[in-house]
Amino acid sequence: MADKVRVGVLISGRGSNLEALADYKRKADPAYEIVVVASNVPEARGLVLAKRFDIPTWAQSHKGVKRAEFDALVDAELRRSGVEVIALAGYMRLLSPEFIHGWNHRILNIHPSLLPDYKGLDTHQRALMGGEEYAGCSVHVVTEELDDGPVIAQARVRVQARDTAETLAQRVLVEEHKLYPAALDAFCRKLLADRAAS
Ligand code: GRF
Repeated sequence: MADKVRVGVLISGRGSNLEALADYKRKADPAYEIVVVASNVPEARGLVLAKRFDIPTWAQSHKGVKRAEFDALVDAELRRSGVEVIALAGYMRLLSPEFIHGWNHRILNIHPSLLPDYKGLDTHQRALMGGEEYAGCSVHVVTEELDDGPVIAQARVRVQARDTAETLAQRVLVEEHKLYPAALDAFCRKLLADRAAS
């Protein structure tokens, strides 16, 4: 695909979803290209992965910086890189309302539950405690409320009798790695089509 949407990925840790997003171009011809990976954790493993994919990185600790000020730094970096869509991939910071408004429905997130169930943390443990038959993951547009924006894609896995939070998390993660690239691709494809039509 000649025209690609420029994506910035925000991470805080392991970066397995970032890896899946970056690796997708080996399997498909996605409508997106990752132009920068930014992190609030300078030692995040995901930054090492980004470098392996030759993706420019930016990192600064948020510690001691007010939320709005930190978000303004991230925002400036993303705009400097010409980012059009943001993909949160294990970004463990709440974003300020100013930041979210500034990106006007152009921020996606992946959450390890079947939203609207189990927003927030410890989703797998809570799904087990809730006696759910299915768990899963959701890709949604980020709005001001935590894990609350419109869901654009979901994948389910069946909960097994002997599941622990860890075994369930592992099986859901396999689905996350398939779901997120495909959902981001579809989102960007639509953006390009809307642009061409206007
Ligand atoms: C994933 O489970 C994702 O759903 C959640 O945070 C975790 C990040 O994992 N938002 P990784 O850093 O992508 O490996």
